Amino acid sequence: MSTEQISASQKVLKIAVIGGDGTGPEVAAEAVKVLKAVAELENISHEMQEFDYGGERYLRTGEVLPEGALEELRKFDAILLGAIGHPQVPPGILERGLLLTLRFHFDQYINLRPVKLYPGVETPLAGKGPEDIDFVVVRENTEDLYCGMGGFLKKGTPDEVATQIAIYTRKGCERCIRWAFEYTRKRNKKRKLTLVAKTNVLTYGHDLWWRTFQDVAKEYPDIQTDYNHVDACCMWMVKNPEQYDVIVTTNMFGDIITDLAAIIQGGMGVAAGGNINPEPGGTSMFEPMGGSAPKYTGQGVINPIAAIAAAGMLLEHSGYPRAAERINRAIQIVTGTKMKSQAAGRMGYSTSQVGDLVVQHLTA
Ligand code: IPM
Ligand code: MN
Repeated sequence: MSTEQISASQKVLKIAVIGGDGTGPEVAAEAVKVLKAVAELENISHEMQEFDYGGERYLRTGEVLPEGALEELRKFDAILLGAIGHPQVPPGILERGLLLTLRFHFDQYINLRPVKLYPGVETPLAGKGPEDIDFVVVRENTEDLYCGMGGFLKKGTPDEVATQIAIYTRKGCERCIRWAFEYTRKRNKKRKLTLVAKTNVLTYGHDLWWRTFQDVAKEYPDIQTDYNHVDACCMWMVKNPEQYDVIVTTNMFGDIITDLAAIIQGGMGVAAGGNINPEPGGTSMFEPMGGSAPKYTGQGVINPIAAIAAAGMLLEHSGYPRAAERINRAIQIVTGTKMKSQAAGRMGYSTSQVGDLVVQHLTA
């Protein structure tokens, strides 16, 4: 055993599980089931603790995160999030109060979204298969329009003014761009990094991104660089997804293009993402891309593959690539040879049966 493996096996991996709202807890339960099984196979000492944050708790107590919650979560190596979103809670409260608070508080400045069409999964793109749809979006995750700056003037009057400010910092874009270059090198596929922005209109903020991208690129002569305006990217992603290897982009555009990316990889049932603080000791958070899908709650029909894939990303990021690889392989067998569809209620199996199938194939 290498020293690295010894220290990894002696370490206790501490995972906080926030099931959240609607079907969130159901998919999180399957991810936890798979985590436990793979930890057993790979001898990973771990502890998991569940937290009941989400809409129900908010309606009961009036607060999204109780006092001390952030300090408590800080004690974990990683967070696994099911989904948030409750029909009785007005939009923005849980998003800002939980998801964005955690992203900002833990400085999870990378939002990593692998876009891979698994075998057997249907894509709406005619004539495209798994070999065409295999790229990764690196979305900046702490700045841009998400910073929450702005305000109203003369609210509720005919003269009302609203501002919503996007901030971009050299530090913020540089650390994201540099991480994306490193990731492209490590991924070692097409070794191509595409910057997606809107330099023709956002002539200050995205000029900063453009100049930073050019500067950092000089340190990576082995990586081919490209640039797309975000509107063109939406077109190319549908027409020629095979042209992408890694995309790096700003927070708001990243939000939008990753939903498009999710649908071409088979939908919200399979798309997973990580909110990563890459610094040593940083707390990162992994989640399925789908929402809480309240109408399916408690029926056992929601697809847990995305949540299970998020658990795989969590392990990969926490230093257990072999365990992550087991999960990836098992997912591909289950989507490729078992499931009828990735859509809720049409999988041919219940939510927990899909989790069981993945567990059964971890040794494949
Ligand atoms: C996402 C989501 C969030 C975002 C929402 C829920 C705040 O859409 O993770 O992409 O906009 O970032
Ligand atoms: Mn989104």
